[in-house]
Amino acid sequence: MMGGTASESVYRILMGVLESRTGQTLSPNRIWRIEMSLKPVMQRHGIADLDALVAALVMSNSRQLLDDTVDAMLNNETFFYREHSVFDDIAETALEKIRAINADRRRVTVWHCGVSTGQEAYSLAMLIAEQGDKWAGWQVDIVGTDVSCHAIGRARIGLYSQFEIQRGLPVQRMVRWFDQTETGWLAKADLRRRIDFSVQNMLTDRPPLARSADLIFCRNLLLYFSAPMRQKAFARLRAMAAPQSFLVLGAGETVLGQTDQFVASPRLRGLYEPADQQVRRAAAA
Ligand SMILES: C[S@@+](CC[C@H](N)C(=O)[O-])C[C@H]1O[C@@H](n2cnc3c(N)ncnc32)[C@H](O)[C@@H]1O
Repeated sequence: MMGGTASESVYRILMGVLESRTGQTLSPNRIWRIEMSLKPVMQRHGIADLDALVAALVMSNSRQLLDDTVDAMLNNETFFYREHSVFDDIAETALEKIRAINADRRRVTVWHCGVSTGQEAYSLAMLIAEQGDKWAGWQVDIVGTDVSCHAIGRARIGLYSQFEIQRGLPVQRMVRWFDQTETGWLAKADLRRRIDFSVQNMLTDRPPLARSADLIFCRNLLLYFSAPMRQKAFARLRAMAAPQSFLVLGAGETVLGQTDQFVASPRLRGLYEPADQQVRRAAAA
């Protein structure tokens, strides 16, 4: 038994479904939570237990059941200004460098890959909006993608519970950018219109970017990929990164020993740059 009431083969099938649809693997401490995570899905679809769920997935061919099952097994943990020092560094330094690099075209593209319910992208959008005049005449495209339909649905609406709104968001920003409603805190239209959210599997789908990205956030999702999937993910991130750009990973993530496509930025702690960018800079020096 891998952690719950069902047989080992049932857990293996569910983990296989998750991996084939998203590339995500479940660590042992998350396997035991499968049954708990899937309870609401089973209730919604009138399914008695995990054995019956697996049987229904195999027999019914229901796309909705498959989407709900995969969504429920994903880890969507996120909050506003997660690892807030990263946002401080981006506001103070990275955005300045990106502005200098793109001064001619006055256009910047930011991609939040694995954006979950949107807090990470809203955090950046508020920060840029508050820089005001600096960005006058600039086009700033912020795109948030995630494999989870449920998470992206929530991100688009921009409605957060009292608990969620208080996680990481300073009170001044809360009242400036969100309206309190009967059902929670709703992002103001002026904030929502700054971000395009869409469902995308970063391992298989092309991200909906009009041009390559100057700043890519891919935080706390590579962690759950197997080594080969992680390599594939880095290759896809590199393919979408502008030649002079920055990649932001989660605090527990690194490129060391994982890929040679990105290297730590010599100028900005915690940020990464395409490796060939540094080779070009060294050659020009
Ligand atoms: C733990 S959350 C992190 C959210 C946010 N980046 C942060 O750091 O606060 C990881 C997100 O990655 C998403 N994800 C997992 N596999 C993915 C894939 N193959 N393509 C796109 N998103 C994926 C999950 O659905 C989840 O919302």
